[in-house]
Amino acid sequence: MRALLLENPHPNADLALEAAGLEVRRHPGAMGEDELIAALDGVQVLGIRSKTTVSRRVLEAAPDLLVIGSFAIGTNQIDLRFAAHRGVAVFNAPFSNTRSVVELALGEIVALSRRLTVVDDALHAGTWLKSAAGAHEVRGRTLGIVGYGNIGTQLSVLAEALGMRVVFYDMAEKLALGNARRMGSLDELLDVSDVVTLHVDGRPGNAGMFGPEQFDRMRPGSIFLNLSRGFVVDYSALREHVLSGKIVGAAVDVFADEPMRTGDPFDSELRGLPNVILTPHVGGSTEEAQEGIGAFVSNKLARYVLDGTTTMSVNVPPLALDPAPAARHRVAYLHRNTPGALALVNQAFAESGANIEGQILGTSGDLGYVITDIGGDLPDEARQALDEVPDTIRLRVLPAGQTEV
Ligand SMILES: NC(=O)c1ccc[n+]([C@@H]2O[C@H](COP(=O)([O-])OP(=O)(O)OC[C@H]3O[C@@H](n4cnc5c(N)ncnc54)[C@H](O)[C@@H]3O)[C@@H](O)[C@H]2O)c1
Repeated sequence: MRALLLENPHPNADLALEAAGLEVRRHPGAMGEDELIAALDGVQVLGIRSKTTVSRRVLEAAPDLLVIGSFAIGTNQIDLRFAAHRGVAVFNAPFSNTRSVVELALGEIVALSRRLTVVDDALHAGTWLKSAAGAHEVRGRTLGIVGYGNIGTQLSVLAEALGMRVVFYDMAEKLALGNARRMGSLDELLDVSDVVTLHVDGRPGNAGMFGPEQFDRMRPGSIFLNLSRGFVVDYSALREHVLSGKIVGAAVDVFADEPMRTGDPFDSELRGLPNVILTPHVGGSTEEAQEGIGAFVSNKLARYVLDGTTTMSVNVPPLALDPAPAARHRVAYLHRNTPGALALVNQAFAESGANIEGQILGTSGDLGYVITDIGGDLPDEARQALDEVPDTIRLRVLPAGQTEV
């Protein structure tokens, strides 16, 4: 089996794949559709980051492909639903860079509260700007976290360790950690927060969720951060509120239109504003995060290839499995989730005389995934019968005695 890794994931990504017996090839950049289709000939495992698009056309033209790893947080670059219906599972690394984002946000909250960018600029320009005016400790200040997910919750814990009061607003019910308090609405959060930081996800409904109305509602003298998604915030409104002096500091890491490559030109209405830190979407970009992502995703890919485990797949039903014990064959069967599908599968095994030693079924939406461990070999008649079931998407027979990776 072959794996193709594009866009230079961390070198440790190769390790789990090689340990699983795959031949790993690398290509440093992203690929366009046609190049990718040609490169996928004979490839079972594809690893990408954010710049390669795996479209319906690519999936249709890649019959050998079994599984895709997004060595990133996002999976928007992959047609997930179509992939599932082609029998291609997809995995990502939803929280391997969480800590990196949290640390950057914390550092920025302290830096903005002390107006570090302003005094630093002045000193580099040869002016001694020594004053306590407008400089604050973060201890005792109220941090308002919008979006209390992986990043929001970890930030909550570390901010409390610095002595901040934490309030949060999340559209879903969330357990408040430590002494954090849940607010009933975004407005309620804006009324009490000295620092507002956005950590919502990129669902389309969040486009423009933070605009003039929300900036108006913020407390005078407050600080604003967005390290979530660019399209969530109206940056013209942020600019106006910084220029009016209402917002005294801001940190922005994400933009609606981000340049493709390092070194590309960049423009924004936020350039040149005082005490505004602009960073090129590097919240999650640390060597530690890259290493974590490399190990996490390749481990998921290897486990899927070896024993069919789909835990945390973003597009097929999740099943946590032990490696197939020696002297058994494991049949991994992805199918359309229709009434009677499981009965047809078991009928095929029963009629061929295969002895089922263990079985587990997972479903999500219109997909079903059954793992069946059978004693001995899978009889040809069973394989043929399963292949002929109309709702079959993909049938894989995993050899006996696979080891853990
Ligand atoms: N800057 C970076 O480099 C970087 C790195 C990693 C993640 N991110 C981004 O950070 C964001 C958060 O990541 P995460 O891993 O914590 O995501 P997550 O899915 O764990 O958490 C998002 C939370 O936001 C909540 N939410 C969504 N829309 C909301 C709304 N309108 N109002 C209130 N709550 C809302 C959800 O219920 C969820 O609890 C994502 O947008 C992600 O893309 C950025």
